[in-house]
Amino acid sequence: MDKTVQKQFKRVVVTGGAGFIGANYVHYALSAHPDWQIVVLDKLTYAGNLENLEAVLHRIEFIQGDIANPADARKALQGADAVLNFAAESHVDRSLLDARAFVRTNIEGTLVLLEAARQAGVRRFLQVSTDEVYGDLSGTDRHSLETDPFRPRSPYAASKAGAEHLVLAYGISHGLDVVITRGSNTYGPYQYPEKIIPLFITNALEDKPLPIYGDGSAVRDYMHALDHAAGIDLVLHRGAAGEAYNLGAREQVSGVQVAEAILAALGKPATLKKFVADRPGHDYRYSVDPSKAEALGWVRRYSFSRGLAETIEWYVQNPSWWQRVRAKKEHQSLMQTWYGQR
Ligand code: NAD
Ligand code: DAU
Repeated sequence: MDKTVQKQFKRVVVTGGAGFIGANYVHYALSAHPDWQIVVLDKLTYAGNLENLEAVLHRIEFIQGDIANPADARKALQGADAVLNFAAESHVDRSLLDARAFVRTNIEGTLVLLEAARQAGVRRFLQVSTDEVYGDLSGTDRHSLETDPFRPRSPYAASKAGAEHLVLAYGISHGLDVVITRGSNTYGPYQYPEKIIPLFITNALEDKPLPIYGDGSAVRDYMHALDHAAGIDLVLHRGAAGEAYNLGAREQVSGVQVAEAILAALGKPATLKKFVADRPGHDYRYSVDPSKAEALGWVRRYSFSRGLAETIEWYVQNPSWWQRVRAKKEHQSLMQTWYGQR
């Protein structure tokens, strides 16, 4: 069989679909594949928010459940022919405070889901992974390739690398059809305001300081969520079984540049930039080479300047979304514990 032949699916399980990228993917998929039956399995942790799916709730089946719970996984996967695993603990700084939930959801949860997928006979399992598995590229001008070794350096990155090993092992040992995407730092609507871009936008809107780690020179390859969603969808349909695909924007933007672009766009003073103690073990540079996904036909739509401008506009237009999230205990406690002493 030609492994790159376009696959067709009808009933698709999206885990973590009430989170940031998962919700963007659900919106994308419903417009790209209007005939799909989409089942979202989401635990609704602090990062999950049903408001992210409000506009499409009538078109999907939502199950509140835990990917690490075999009964929940089995229930969601009944009759499914594809699974996309977005569900994760996703914030590096939280993994530095306490890594246990990262191991439980990202590693154990992925294992439970793989086993449920095997038993349900799903035709494809897509694992949403990250460029952080490659580790820090600072001091080089390299771009990570899919064949590069894993050098994860935070508990979050280590948990995602562990999950990938399990996914590939299920492909080899059990013949499960698996594919993996390794996306770069992603931004866009519905992103929980703990990651740099939504945190800085919402802080600026409240005239609060923007906490820049260290000297602010660390760079990321910022990619819009809808480009990420399109890349994932393409790999689901066209990726070769057992293969991983990098997804990145070919952009290198520093923390200071992010802060300055947001302040300028909102007409806020540069004095809101605040240099704070660095993240321990900070990876100063990630950069992936996305040629393999581009060869499948992936085309990005967003430059960083356009994507950031539209994202800022989304937060400006949706104050009740982020004000509700920021008012919750989970958010305030992270702000206090993590930034209080910085
Ligand atoms: P997020 O934190 O915004 O959302 C995670 C979602 O998973 C939430 O809805 C949460 O409720 C759900 N969830 C958490 N634990 C669960 C469990 N045990 N069972 C079921 N649901 C659970 O995350 P995100 O930023 O949207 O990231 C989605 C995926 O993409 C993750 O796997 C992450 O590692 C990966 N990724 C993220 C980025 C990024 O920049 N945000 C980049 C590359 C890859
Ligand atoms: O690269 C993909 C990864 O991108 C994903 O796998 C992760 O789930 C996602 O959280 C993201 O990880 P990062 O560590 O790159 O994202 P974060 O937004 O936390 O940090 C981006 C950069 O900004 C990094 O250099 C640290 C810096 N930063 C971050 C925060 C939260 C600051 O300077 N100040 C901050 O307050």
